[in-house]
Amino acid sequence: MRFNLCVFASGNGSNLNAIIKASKTGKISSRVALVISNNSNSGALKKAAKYKIPHIHLSQKLFSSQSEFTKNILDVLNRHKINLILLAGYMKILDPLIIKKYRNRIINIHPALLPKFGGKGMFGIHVHEAVLKTRETITGATVHFVNEVYDSGAIILQKLVKVKPDDDALSLQKRVLLAEHKLYPEAIKLFEEGKC
Ligand code: GRF
Repeated sequence: MRFNLCVFASGNGSNLNAIIKASKTGKISSRVALVISNNSNSGALKKAAKYKIPHIHLSQKLFSSQSEFTKNILDVLNRHKINLILLAGYMKILDPLIIKKYRNRIINIHPALLPKFGGKGMFGIHVHEAVLKTRETITGATVHFVNEVYDSGAIILQKLVKVKPDDDALSLQKRVLLAEHKLYPEAIKLFEEGKC
């Protein structure tokens, strides 16, 4: 099945870029129909603009209440006929109303092998620092469904990445990110094929 994707991203948008490329080259049949970012300066919004993909800066700060903010997001998703949401470095928690409305149709990528190194405080470079601190020899990335409990939804796919003896958090982050760029499109494909 072919889905209208909305990618939520706060940062560089390298996963967004990988998903756009996967769509353009036919690795997945869905298309990125919308990009939402809470960060007006994000690389993700710039990438969306470059590919002429509809994009919007939506931050809680622009609204008088959380419910107004959520209502606005739901309206935008509706207007763009979004039927699959992808979180790719989105640094905000989605309102439970959105999670309920899009139950089993919201996917996230996490830069570690969940359930290890997930949950509160486990984002960005902190994840890789924690992996090195506990002397793991294998780390990786996880694509999973989003539910109300952070980083705990059903796992769709994982990819392993070796930790090298001379790795620091940055080198590990870079290598895991490369794995993420392959993994996310593979997981979307599984979803398209109804295999998850
Ligand atoms: C990725 O490591 C992703 O796993 C995490 O946030 C990072 C986003 O990177 N959730 P990018 O913005 O896609 O480059």
